[in-house]
Amino acid sequence: MTDKSSFPAWLAAQAADRAGRGLTRRLVHADREPLLDLAGNDYLGLARDPRVVAGAVAAAESYGAGAGASRLVSGTLSIHSELEQEMAAFTGFPSALAFSTGYHANLSVVQALADSDTLIVSDAHVHASLIDACRLARATVIVTPHNDVAAVARALAGRGQRRALVLAETIYSVLGDAAPVAELAGLVAASDAVLIADEAHALGVAGPGGRGLLAAQGLAGRPDVVATGTLSKSFGSQGGLVLGLPAVREQLVNRARPFIYDTGLAPAAAGAALAALRIIETDPELAGRVCRNAAILADAVGAAAPAGAVLSVSMPGPREALAAVQSAAEQGLRIGCFRPPSTPDGVSRLRLTAHAHHTDEQLTLAAKVLRLVVSAC
Ligand SMILES: Cc1ncc(COP(=O)(O)O)c(C=O)c1O
Repeated sequence: MTDKSSFPAWLAAQAADRAGRGLTRRLVHADREPLLDLAGNDYLGLARDPRVVAGAVAAAESYGAGAGASRLVSGTLSIHSELEQEMAAFTGFPSALAFSTGYHANLSVVQALADSDTLIVSDAHVHASLIDACRLARATVIVTPHNDVAAVARALAGRGQRRALVLAETIYSVLGDAAPVAELAGLVAASDAVLIADEAHALGVAGPGGRGLLAAQGLAGRPDVVATGTLSKSFGSQGGLVLGLPAVREQLVNRARPFIYDTGLAPAAAGAALAALRIIETDPELAGRVCRNAAILADAVGAAAPAGAVLSVSMPGPREALAAVQSAAEQGLRIGCFRPPSTPDGVSRLRLTAHAHHTDEQLTLAAKVLRLVVSAC
């Protein structure tokens, strides 16, 4: 008889429970399944752009395959400084700090800017990295309903802590909707707080020439606004960013554990991101093309055009969502499927992403398949 307290038996019970609820996760081998991709976050198609790949190769040849140490030991390279300066200039912030992932950037900024005398007011839909960041920060946390400005105002008004941080994504990763950043910025200004806005799904896609929603609202560079970003989506590479005052950068270098105790961003990733940034700067039409293509996909699924590249279609349940993904794949389309616990509201969804490089012919096929798949649910 199996001992149910043994480690393998516990794992098997966990797996059986997930399977019973239709919530088993699977790794997706995109290179083995050549489908039209409406699931990934390479919004501008730059991950495979020869100029971006060449940027990665040149950086690896100049600096080596890895940074070799923490940025505070011997892992800071000229390519990191170049990337940080150009990213800051592009987004309109006075300084930037690069991280090995966007996840690390979010963990770092919250942990380093909070202490036990800080209130963190976090939107209910923020990314897992910001949720984990709150846990790391050991501050008092209030989670407010999604995009509920009045609830944020109430939380700030009742605060007993010396400092306060407000956490939001400018374009939310699962639902694809925009945050009311102007209102949130008004609240933090009125209550001596700081807005930390994750631009992961906005940079490269939204705002003037892809400079993000903070730039679009004239908030980039404000002392009480700090942005985070990732190099893994529109920039087609890997890595993360925090953008803000030089004093914020200095605080992170000195206090952010996920930065201090992590090896510096790989040179190839920095070189690729720099090349991608230069392409985005010289082709400001790229962001517009994503939005145009997103509107075509939105029309096919009967949704309003999204704020950026992400479209969300709610499904009756996880099994229906998986069946829709399977059916789309059989017709040549890869679409994303988010099920609990990866959805902030517990609703299973299809997650569709628009890409600048999709041709009209590909979009026509995608729209046809999406209409069929969504109407079958
Ligand atoms: C909103 C948001 N923030 C942060 C991240 C983390 O970025 P990275 O993949 O670079 O670690 C993601 C990635 O999925 C994200 O969607």
